[in-house]
Amino acid sequence: MKLPLFLLPILGALAQANPITSQASSWPYAPFTTSGRDIKNSLGQTVNYAGVNWPGAADVMIPEGLQYQSVKTIMSKIKSLGMNVIRLTYAIEMIDDIYGNVDSSLKTAFIQALGQTNGTKVLKQVLAANPSFTEKTTRLQVFDAIAAEAATQNIYIHLDNHVSKGEWCCSHTDGNAWFGDTYFNVANWKRGLAYMASHAASWPAFTSMSLRNELRTTADGTGDNWVSWYANMIPAADGIHKANTSPLIFFSGLSYDTQLATIVNGNDIGNGTHFSKSSHSYANKIIWELHNYQNSATNCNDIKGSLRNQGYNAMEGDSAAVNKAPVLLTEFGFDQNTGSQSVYAQCIEDYLTTLPGGPGGWMQWVVSGSYYIREGGEDKDESWGLLNHDWSNWRNQTAVDYTKSFVKKTLG
Ligand SMILES: *[C@@H]1O[C@H](CO)[C@@H](O)[C@H](O)[C@H]1NC(C)=O
Ligand SMILES: *[C@@H]1O[C@H](CO)[C@@H](O)[C@H](O)[C@H]1NC(C)=O
Ligand SMILES: *[C@@H]1O[C@H](CO)[C@@H](O)[C@H](O)[C@H]1NC(C)=O
Repeated sequence: MKLPLFLLPILGALAQANPITSQASSWPYAPFTTSGRDIKNSLGQTVNYAGVNWPGAADVMIPEGLQYQSVKTIMSKIKSLGMNVIRLTYAIEMIDDIYGNVDSSLKTAFIQALGQTNGTKVLKQVLAANPSFTEKTTRLQVFDAIAAEAATQNIYIHLDNHVSKGEWCCSHTDGNAWFGDTYFNVANWKRGLAYMASHAASWPAFTSMSLRNELRTTADGTGDNWVSWYANMIPAADGIHKANTSPLIFFSGLSYDTQLATIVNGNDIGNGTHFSKSSHSYANKIIWELHNYQNSATNCNDIKGSLRNQGYNAMEGDSAAVNKAPVLLTEFGFDQNTGSQSVYAQCIEDYLTTLPGGPGGWMQWVVSGSYYIREGGEDKDESWGLLNHDWSNWRNQTAVDYTKSFVKKTLG
């Protein structure tokens, strides 16, 4: 937003008279850094994350739910659980469109993804629920509005590059799987990451961002190896840090982000190279992220053992974990109609809240009650969503009580 010029001297004077308005001395006390297995704010206090995924990377490439509720209402619901972070997902295609000068207005975005009739209808609903938007508001301006509301409600923004082409994620055959896959143009990806790192510098609530969600083999079985991972992830992280030195940078692993042990333990990546955190200028910005969906597991010790082997030993003071850093569970979740009393859900809570040295951070999949479109189905219901279909209320009070109590145990 551009301020009228005549206001600038007034704001300057206010900032001087009232130092509390300057960023470092007020929430979120960014930039964050890491110290061993902990995240620290600019005051040196330990910070943790407990929150939820808010998807914005599917076909429309606009954060979900806005045809039913306002940005403020959705954020307030998240806040009411005691959560302090959203993992806000976006598609690289959104940034490609900006560079390509492609019209990214809400009107065009909805009609392109949903067709003329439904697109127009849903657009009208979005504008009715969010009167500060117009049909000319761009996709990125919707992200800006969410970031502004997050700052108002003191919710950190973790930006997640979920996919390249905007669509439901993830499969081996969706073209977004691995570097160089059908839609996964590496140069565009790096450009998009750097663009978002710079753009989000103006969001007070912005504290961290990811490199890529759930890497995996492509349709023909290629990819998913550490040498290629290293060759792509390190330059991309360098690019983020060059564009903006502030955010924490989240490194995901192989096999749908369930494997990080090789990197955490500093093992040979396959060609004699060993990842060494300390050799990177942004060593104190590196976070490990893992995903977990072992919903059918019936034995908690098995779940705990596998998490530990996948990279959680970096949180546990294990001397094998030479690249010690915070590990964040940026996705886990379950069907809200059945799952919250499961061995799985109880085990995840137990594991993360009893880690030696303090709880680990997490983001549940997912807040969405429904999607504008998912895998071709419009207005698709999400039975894993904390919210019901029209995002007006919790889907299942028992399940949300689990989440609320997990937040409390995590953030204290
Ligand atoms: C429009 O959306 C409805 C769901 O709200 C869906 O059932 C229908 O198939 C969609 N129409 C088209 C043409 O996609
Ligand atoms: C191993 O692969 C990485 C990533 O491509 C590369 O940077 C490194 O030079 C390679 N090391 C050797 C010994 O070939
Ligand atoms: C809510 O979840 C609980 C346990 O997870 C389940 O027992 C209950 O049947 C669910 N309620 C509804 C209305 O789905």
